[in-house]
Amino acid sequence: MDESAGPSTARMIDYWLGGRHHRPVDVAAAAAFETAYGPCASIFRSLRAFLGRAVRASAAHGVDGFLVFGAGVPTCGNVHEVAPEATVLYTDVDPQTVRLGQGLLAGDVRAGYGYGDATDIGTVDPAQLHRFVPGWGRRPVGVVFLGLAAFLDDDTLARSLDELYRTVAPGSWLAIDFDSEELAGHPQALAMMGPAFRMRAPDRFVPLLGRWQPTGEGVVPVARWRPEGDPEPVPDAFYGALALRGAD
Ligand SMILES: C[S@@+](CC[C@H](N)C(=O)[O-])C[C@H]1O[C@@H](n2cnc3c(N)ncnc32)[C@H](O)[C@@H]1O
Repeated sequence: MDESAGPSTARMIDYWLGGRHHRPVDVAAAAAFETAYGPCASIFRSLRAFLGRAVRASAAHGVDGFLVFGAGVPTCGNVHEVAPEATVLYTDVDPQTVRLGQGLLAGDVRAGYGYGDATDIGTVDPAQLHRFVPGWGRRPVGVVFLGLAAFLDDDTLARSLDELYRTVAPGSWLAIDFDSEELAGHPQALAMMGPAFRMRAPDRFVPLLGRWQPTGEGVVPVARWRPEGDPEPVPDAFYGALALRGAD
């Protein structure tokens, strides 16, 4: 999103998650999308629950610092809320979202928000990175890459994930998702996503992970990644994985 008064996907997700940081224009855009697709709240709540399970699994492996790309609104079960012992740097490319996040986290000593382009780690402010993700490049960290793949072509996604792999220390974890081809069954909704929106079949996505090694669950619909109880009964709109940066 630019500085316009238009809707923001990050704030639309906040609306679907039951948050408080969206505007009437976001609610209108969310309603228009649901007219074309169907209800979305349960899908985004399932996706946020996957974030929680993947982040907690990373923390259980000893990770206590997370870098979040395409972070959106840092509320509603976001990383610092599900891993309260960790420190977290949220980043996004959208200036409005960055400002919103900075306001929400003002005074928080464990979580910060700054500009960051997922396709170029060099755009993340090094001072913020080392403050909130201490030991970056030297000790294992968590990288959260959710809600982003649809905005990146295959080459850019693969290159960005490889850059991350080369930058983080062995033992680091990547939480990632992508949009499946399920939306193709809803042509009007798909058209609303614009021509650059990318859906992927799992077998097209897996090679883009490069050297990142998914856990034994593999790349699966997010509701079926280590569900706590029965998986949420949602369409398989998003697939995801938690993947390890092993030792070379
Ligand atoms: C669909 S929202 C997802 C927000 C959040 N991750 C979630 O899952 O609720 C996508 C976000 O990615 C941001 N974004 C898009 N391209 C990006 C890029 N190249 N680097 C970082 N963020 C990007 C957008 O500004 C937006 O806030």
